[in-house]
Amino acid sequence: MARSQWGSRLGFILAAAGSAIGLGAIWKFPYVAATNGGGAFLFIYLLICLTLGLVLMVGEMALGRATASSAVGAFRKLKGGAWPIVGYIGVLVCFLIYSFYSVVGGWTIAYIGKSLEGSILTADSKVLSAIFSHFIANPIEPLFYHAGFALITLSVVIGGVQKGIENLSKFLMPALFVLMLVLIARGLTLPGALEGLVYFVTPDFGKVTGGMLVDAMGLAFFSLSLGMGIMITYGSYVEKQANLMSSALWVIALTVTTCFLAGLMVLPAVFAFGFDPSAGPGLTFITMPAVFAHLPFGQLFAVLFFCLLLVAALTSSVSLLEVVVSFMIDEFGMARRRAAILVSLAIFLMGVPASLSLGVWSEYTVFGKGVFDLLDYLTSNLLMPVVEVLLALFIGWRVWPTIRDELAQGRMPGWLHAVKGFVRYAAPLLILTILVRSV
Ligand code: PHE
Repeated sequence: MARSQWGSRLGFILAAAGSAIGLGAIWKFPYVAATNGGGAFLFIYLLICLTLGLVLMVGEMALGRATASSAVGAFRKLKGGAWPIVGYIGVLVCFLIYSFYSVVGGWTIAYIGKSLEGSILTADSKVLSAIFSHFIANPIEPLFYHAGFALITLSVVIGGVQKGIENLSKFLMPALFVLMLVLIARGLTLPGALEGLVYFVTPDFGKVTGGMLVDAMGLAFFSLSLGMGIMITYGSYVEKQANLMSSALWVIALTVTTCFLAGLMVLPAVFAFGFDPSAGPGLTFITMPAVFAHLPFGQLFAVLFFCLLLVAALTSSVSLLEVVVSFMIDEFGMARRRAAILVSLAIFLMGVPASLSLGVWSEYTVFGKGVFDLLDYLTSNLLMPVVEVLLALFIGWRVWPTIRDELAQGRMPGWLHAVKGFVRYAAPLLILTILVRSV
């Protein structure tokens, strides 16, 4: 059976960027940057994205295109042996991430509702913090929205690659960019906002610690959708003529720009309104309403913002579900519809304890972390780096000629030598060093 393909290279870049840009950039980046001291974190995050991130992304895409397979199949086709296990871990990571991702996706739906009814249209930081913490601590309400988010994702994935993903990304991502620019302009002109700007862009390298490095690396992988076979799967749908290096560069540039804009949007407002920068996962949700309250047509902006955030989250969750579903189709010959429904049900169940761990189950912890934090930490800061080390070793040492031909496209550009050296030596060493230092 012929494998379906993206309509165009632009379609591929936008879909890959759609997977990358999501809650990671807009929800996670600002609060992780804020808890890690601002500027230095930004700097290190960017550095990791442009080195490790770039090489691993292009490697994943090449692996996918060379084999026309999804995560597990790609390893099996080229080498077999124990290598497919890397793909299995990747699929597992997708599954785990999707379970808490859907919970947060549900929050965006809930906040569309709260914007419509107007309850969050206040600049009072205490009220906004209280609304958020009451909401996530409620045992029922967030689960309802979590189910809603999973259902929407499910219906997109059942619709198939082309129609579902491509069409969604094309128009709404640019709209999100424009809206963020408006919100940044408003935020930066608030009294006291400059302090937040300085905090965000001035690196204080005294704050660099092992823990911060592993957070930055984990966030880089998370936000770029690396280390779980997504870019392998997406790469398998790209036509042979497309230039993977420039596609990867585009995806990374768009993603880090979004992260930077999200930081500019949230952090100055945090300082202007006196929120706590280390508020954690609620930061974007409690801070942005205060900015809306200071805008004419604030309610309209609020609804728009959470709708577009929802779309950004959906283009990412679709890619998460797609990896697990295409794994089930390729490995077990399951029908797409059946696989998608089964997986969605499983992630819903998995997300339940994650959601409850932020409220009624908060006292149940492992290593001092509730289920939500544990899933997040385990995937970004442990499993994804491990997958990437193995992937770099695989690409650099086992199947380099295939990957090289895939990237060279008949010529042998000079940068390919640098990529080879980087995946062989620098990437595994760097990741392992950061992992070890964080322990
Ligand atoms: N990159 C997505 C985001 O930042 C999340 C994601 C992670 C999607 C891993 C797919 C795979 O929101």
